[in-house]
Amino acid sequence: MDRTEGKWIMDKDINILAIETSCDETSAAVVRNGREIRSNIIYSQIDVHKKFGGVVPEVASRKHLESINHVIDLSLAEAHIGFQDLDSIAVTYGPGLVGALLIGLTTAKALAYTLGLPLIGVNHIEGHICANYIEHKHLNPPFVCLIASGGHSHLVYVADFGEYEIMGMTRDDAAGEAFDKIARALGLGYPGGPLIDKIAKEGKANAIEFPRAYLEDGSYDFSFSGVKSAVLNYLNSSKMKGKKIDKEDVAASFQESIVDVLSDKLIAAAEEKNSSYAVLAGGVAANSRLREILTMKGKAKGIEILYPTPILCTDNAAMIGSAGYYHYIKGETSSLDINAIPNLAIK
Ligand code: KG4
Ligand code: ZN
Repeated sequence: MDRTEGKWIMDKDINILAIETSCDETSAAVVRNGREIRSNIIYSQIDVHKKFGGVVPEVASRKHLESINHVIDLSLAEAHIGFQDLDSIAVTYGPGLVGALLIGLTTAKALAYTLGLPLIGVNHIEGHICANYIEHKHLNPPFVCLIASGGHSHLVYVADFGEYEIMGMTRDDAAGEAFDKIARALGLGYPGGPLIDKIAKEGKANAIEFPRAYLEDGSYDFSFSGVKSAVLNYLNSSKMKGKKIDKEDVAASFQESIVDVLSDKLIAAAEEKNSSYAVLAGGVAANSRLREILTMKGKAKGIEILYPTPILCTDNAAMIGSAGYYHYIKGETSSLDINAIPNLAIK
């Protein structure tokens, strides 16, 4: 194995079966050499959780259990590959819902043990970052990456493959969580991010002045509880005064205040680290206004903005297969007794 111009060169193709069950998607994928998707099967439970207005952990575990074997079979069939052709099993072991994580982790352990293959435990947040290696074949570290999803909002400096420095993170809600809560308050449904994104296109982003929390000078942390309370207060006081609520304007103004802060901090971090790329990851990276604003701000500073296609932004196993590959080639495998860690940190 050799490393040239940021690429690892192995003497043979490495095929990894990856499994992801940290929240409400049961997913299995076969990824070749960390960058090429041979299959990426995603069974989304969203329709099941929709009627409860959010993910119900017990229901999520049960649904993962019902579908995991079938999803794995489909992923191998679509990749035209058998168990004997695999080099390793990669699996998310945190952060996430503990019961949900355990279904994927136990399945991966059973496969690794019976097939005699190395097991690689992958951090879910690292997986989101690595979705960009699949999408952008030219992307190599170092770069800065904003991971914004339903569970996390992190600004990370990717110093090298598998080497991360956390520059900032949320002090309260994750960005996606704020989208989901405001969507619920507007009666839009679950998950809220895509619905707010959609109706915001019909509204005015400057209609209502919601706060933007930049925190202390130079801080790369986030806080979304202020803007969330401001929107809820606006909705309550409008209701009490009998004032008509323009949902499109509320959605557009709320979204603008979130994406303004996210994009300013990502660009500032890229400048500080002298990074040619500012990279987006996680469910909120699918937000069309965030992509638009960042592309504008990046152009002005000569920074290339990269993000994955929407299906690779939200939870999927291919991103776990990519992250797993970069551990595999460094010989970083996991023991069969690793446990699920619901609040696993990225390091
Ligand atoms: O990464 P992900 O699938 O799951 C977690 O790891 O949390 O992210 C899901 C989150 C949800 O909160 C969802 O509302 C948000 O990503 N999201 C969006 C958009 N699409 C998904 N938020 C804003 N705009 C979108 N277009
Ligand atoms: Zn995620």
